[in-house]
Amino acid sequence: MSELVSMRTDGGVAVITIDNPPVNAMKHEVRIGLLDLALRATGDPDISAVVIACAGRTFVAGADITEFGKPPRQPTAIAVIEAIEACPKPIIAALHGTPLGGGLELALGCHFRVAAPGTRLGLPEIKLGIIPGAGGTQRLPRLMGMDKAMAMILSGDPIPAREALDAGLVDEIVEDDLVAGAVAFARRVVAEKRPLVLVRNRDEKIAAAGDLAVFDAAAANYTKRARGQNAPVAAVAALRAALTLPIADALKRERELFLELVAGDQSKAQRHIFFAEREAAKVPDIAGVEACDVKRAAVIGAGTMGGGIAMCFANAGIPVTVVETGEEALARGLDTVTRNYRNTASRGGLAPGELEARIGRITGTTDLAAVADADIVVEAVFEDMGVKQDAFGRLDRIVKPGAVIASNTSYLDIDALARSTTRPQAVLGMHFFSPANVMRLLEVVRGAATSPETLATAIAVGRKLGKVPAVVGVCHGFVGNRMLRLRSVEAERLLLEGALPQDVDSALTDFGFPMGPFAMADLAGLDVGWRMRKAQGLTAPIADQLCECGRYGQKTARGFYLYEPGSRTPKPDPEVERLIADTAAQRGITRGTLGKDEIIERLLFPMINEGARILREGIARRPGDIDVIWVYGYGFPVHRGGPMHYADAVGLAYIRDRLGGFEHKTGDERHRPAPLLEELAVAGKGFASLGQ
Ligand code: CAA
Repeated sequence: MSELVSMRTDGGVAVITIDNPPVNAMKHEVRIGLLDLALRATGDPDISAVVIACAGRTFVAGADITEFGKPPRQPTAIAVIEAIEACPKPIIAALHGTPLGGGLELALGCHFRVAAPGTRLGLPEIKLGIIPGAGGTQRLPRLMGMDKAMAMILSGDPIPAREALDAGLVDEIVEDDLVAGAVAFARRVVAEKRPLVLVRNRDEKIAAAGDLAVFDAAAANYTKRARGQNAPVAAVAALRAALTLPIADALKRERELFLELVAGDQSKAQRHIFFAEREAAKVPDIAGVEACDVKRAAVIGAGTMGGGIAMCFANAGIPVTVVETGEEALARGLDTVTRNYRNTASRGGLAPGELEARIGRITGTTDLAAVADADIVVEAVFEDMGVKQDAFGRLDRIVKPGAVIASNTSYLDIDALARSTTRPQAVLGMHFFSPANVMRLLEVVRGAATSPETLATAIAVGRKLGKVPAVVGVCHGFVGNRMLRLRSVEAERLLLEGALPQDVDSALTDFGFPMGPFAMADLAGLDVGWRMRKAQGLTAPIADQLCECGRYGQKTARGFYLYEPGSRTPKPDPEVERLIADTAAQRGITRGTLGKDEIIERLLFPMINEGARILREGIARRPGDIDVIWVYGYGFPVHRGGPMHYADAVGLAYIRDRLGGFEHKTGDERHRPAPLLEELAVAGKGFASLGQ
């Protein structure tokens, strides 16, 4: 008998409890125990109904992801769910926390579902590069209708209990004691002799969906955004089978699609990111260090970044003071924040009352003294060492003892900033990505003197803000921007060698990035990069010239591309092509033709090489940290697992050889294979061998 699953009886109702912390994943022992007890309860004449509940923070949150890719062990989740479904006595799932994936599929196999009010139900498989593999694509549409089921399965996002009740996914919300409520519900079902209509036999809602053309049109909205991912296409195929095949055949089809995906590279990459994301914020030498409770925050600077960071705090329920030097800049910044919130609200993205509540948590001031009671201060002033050091010096005199003083710098030396205070232990980097209220990555930059408490607090705050914190060390540009710099240099080089901006951009979007570097630069404003390059004594042959002609990107309707009035769609510009050709000619470069594969290798391999240096220097602790940074901060396609995971898939020996060729061609010593890359390639190993 499994210790992870137990049974007690409560006046003729059996209560089976799964207790497999932390998230009650349905691992092998759980499946054995659950099946065994469900069968035992079925055979016991004194038992009239069964409740399946979970101990701890959640109902089963899915299959055990660590079992994926290993040979399946009996009983499978499908076998357990089908046995439960076939039970002649009513089985009620008592849901709380996050019944996800295989957990929700288990609940769908039960005859009834009751839920605690805060429950969030979902089928997030798509986020792991797979589809529900234990009947989810067939049973969910039968309960909720095709449109709602498609939205849940293709987005992977959970829905709250109330919405699940309205949609027919849940039969009752239990306000008080969940298990007692579920037992009472079970008794009612028995007393009322309610017929056990199996979800698999409830065809009314999908019969109503009927028209396959309507289904295909709705599905196309999702698959056109798939950018090379297989799972959305497979999910649509499985859902379509619900409309076209008898359920037994459709379940078989779902299983085939699931097995194909789970064995594929994309799901492997996405599982890698799932675990790497959780590892990235773990720092062995601060394990057990308590984070300070952050009740009030302050942000210095009401520009784009400052405003976005303030929104992050307000969204997480933390009151925040925004400080600007002048009234006008402050008003402008706060107006932008309000406008952003109103836009979100007008798209239905905020619950009633939330708009006012969030805006109400943000207070603007020009008086720096107002930060005195903040538990954390994030500086987001102009990206200049002198300006920032001055701000840190002044903050040092005002901020209360024990508070964290963070900089949102994207390049500058955190240790130098720390030295402009009398408490370097309280200083670190919290590098948000633009737009700060949207992008999930938070690079947490640990300075030489940063204390364990400061670091633990920044990580905990990051999590509270819904970010994915990744801890990195101090160097110019930290992990993300340091690697990005190599890609930017290479992208410009490719132009001179024969590619056009649209060739480079489309190679990357075909690879799975949401945008290429030139469309991105136009969106961000070419002047931003130009200013930064000038400050750092760097140049970019084409971008610099575009800026000199006043072509700043979308904001001036001209950059690397042309933009029609009111449009954000980049159009190739013959003038830019001429400028590129002339510049190449002036430099004696003969332009040729570059294929997509070569463009990808030229853009990504030097970045991977830099990643190897970053690892050797200890700036990033694990290859997975770099992957998380690139997936969450720079749009690296998650189904490719981030640059270091991708490098392993390509093979390090091949990358080393290609880099050697690039060095020969460009004369750029950054292309010389990094010692770590070289060593791993020689040993026939990958970055993954360095461990998570
Ligand atoms: N399998 C194995 N381990 C899991 C897991 C799972 N399904 N879900 C979470 N964990 C682990 C995490 O790796 C983490 O481990 P460490 O503490 O060692 O880092 C631990 O459980 C706690 O997880 P979180 O830190 O994420 O905790 P949280 O409270 O922030 O979030 C959660 C909880 C919402 C359940 C979140 O963990 C989550 O989204 N889990 C994945 C859910 C999922 O994708 N389920 C579907 C699985 S696929 C499936 O079920 C296929 C099928 O049809 C058969």
